[in-house]
Amino acid sequence: MSKIGNPLCAAVLLAFVVMSLTLLVNNWHSKDRDAKFTKENLDADLAVQRSLLVYELNERRKEILPFLILSENERVWEESEHISGDPSTKSKRMNGNSENAAVSEGSIPYSGEIGCNELVEMRAVDVLGSGYTKLVVKVLLSEGQPVALKFVNDQGADMGRCLEEFKDPEGCHELVSYKLKKEILLLQKLKHRNIIKLQGHCEEEGGGGGGGRRITAILEQGSPLQMIQLLQSPWEERFRVCLGLARLLHYLSVSPLGSVVLLDFQPRQFVLVSGELKLTDLDDASVKEPECRSDQDCVLQFPLRSFNLSCSPQGLCEGHNERRNLYNAYRYFFTYLLPHQAPSALTHLVERIMNSTGELQAGINKTLEAFEEVLQLYQSGPHLVNLPPALLRDYSVMRGVRTSGDVGYRCWGSYSHQGCLLSVQSPREAALLCSSQSHCTSFSLSQQKTWTGRPLASFRTGFSHLVPDETSEVYLRKSKASGATV
Ligand SMILES: Nc1ncnc2c1ncn2[C@@H]1O[C@H](COP(=O)(O)OP(=O)(O)O)[C@@H](O)[C@H]1O
Ligand SMILES: *[C@@H]1O[C@H](CO)[C@@H](O)[C@H](O)[C@H]1NC(C)=O
Ligand SMILES: *[C@@H]1O[C@H](CO)[C@@H](O)[C@H](O)[C@H]1NC(C)=O
Ligand SMILES: *[C@@H]1O[C@H](CO)[C@@H](O)[C@H](O)[C@H]1NC(C)=O
Ligand SMILES: [Mg+2]
Repeated sequence: MSKIGNPLCAAVLLAFVVMSLTLLVNNWHSKDRDAKFTKENLDADLAVQRSLLVYELNERRKEILPFLILSENERVWEESEHISGDPSTKSKRMNGNSENAAVSEGSIPYSGEIGCNELVEMRAVDVLGSGYTKLVVKVLLSEGQPVALKFVNDQGADMGRCLEEFKDPEGCHELVSYKLKKEILLLQKLKHRNIIKLQGHCEEEGGGGGGGRRITAILEQGSPLQMIQLLQSPWEERFRVCLGLARLLHYLSVSPLGSVVLLDFQPRQFVLVSGELKLTDLDDASVKEPECRSDQDCVLQFPLRSFNLSCSPQGLCEGHNERRNLYNAYRYFFTYLLPHQAPSALTHLVERIMNSTGELQAGINKTLEAFEEVLQLYQSGPHLVNLPPALLRDYSVMRGVRTSGDVGYRCWGSYSHQGCLLSVQSPREAALLCSSQSHCTSFSLSQQKTWTGRPLASFRTGFSHLVPDETSEVYLRKSKASGATV
């Protein structure tokens, strides 16, 4: 709406002014006339609203057009290479439309994914979340496959704002649907382990006599990101989220669409899938760097900080998208998740990441390098190689057994809420931890590993007996009588 130079916009504004004037004049003259004029006023009012809505619809259509054209070119290429799915289902799904017709209609091409047919026998299980624009529900497909379905949230704030302005439920649904369409198109182009996987979509005539096309995105199921919960989880898990974010931002900076910026960057736009961070809300992503005339136009503004970027000879703010993402990652994620309880041998590296992202001294490439270095050090644990073997002298080892009837205790950063379950580098590190806690009398190691491949050790005060278990070993602390009965 803000681009004054746009001729269509000017035309609409003109129409608006003319109609407003007509209304004003009508009002002036209608003081003591009959209700017929009131109705005409109403009609004029509706016409203004309608033309503004049509204008907005056109703007949204234009916004997604580049992605649609990209999809079509790829699809045609795929077909000519004979690497696409079953051609009979494809032609059925395309309803015999020519490709160009599909683009001009603004419908998204299908490509061998889950579609409307698979949704017929689904079972809705729960609401997963909702936001300004969309509603997400958890469903099971007929074969028991769990997926997340994303719809336009007809009760949401986006829809509410539109209805207030235009009072046209169908038009508003169509308007808001463009955001979901854009998201689906972006998800088709952007593939990364830290972006939610699009498993398909469904676009069909709306049921219930409502008319209009309803669109559904079919996604990999995750769980909404709970920052409070994440703050209480082990450092290794919090580091995993931050590393995932760094990898995501690196990908976004060199994506097939160019450098992508997330305009509405907030933890609620992400979900976790088995502990891995995934971006799910993409409707507010942009692939354009802001235009500029001079460096003054390129100030990157945050509530508590601002950064001066430079205006390139091509008239674009250089590196704006990458830097905006990176600083948001710092202020919403890294500050809360990264430094707290980091292993002491890594605090220096972690602090360097905090300093360089908090000041935007380095770009995403250098930041990701630093993250991968932390991971590598954490996994190989060179800081722990020198733990003295004597640490284990205080313990007697029993292989092929596990404990039962544990008397546990809780510890900070535990993987389990009931007891003390921690990730360790080796039995020596576990011994070091146990020996440092007066109430620890034994610990065991099983085959259970964390995402970095480190074993999990479970620490306890006592237990009632031992049972055979090939995959487990128990370390009893000699100096503390554990009172176990074998
Ligand atoms: N694949 C998914 N699995 C689980 N929850 C999801 C998934 N996608 C989104 N959500 C939840 O639904 C909420 C709304 O989705 P989102 O795409 O952010 O909609 P909006 O554009 O309205 O903000 C998110 O904040 C998230 O908690
Ligand atoms: C950014 O530029 C403005 C002038 O445009 C200047 O006043 C300000 O000090 C600069 N800030 C930094 C951090 O360089
Ligand atoms: C990070 O910044 C602080 C404050 O500017 C400084 O004291 C500290 O030495 C820096 N740390 C690293 C690792 O650069
Ligand atoms: C960052 O790395 C990518 C490849 O991963 C490369 O294409 C790009 O040029 C690098 N950017 C900078 C600023 O070095
Ligand atoms: Mg959202």
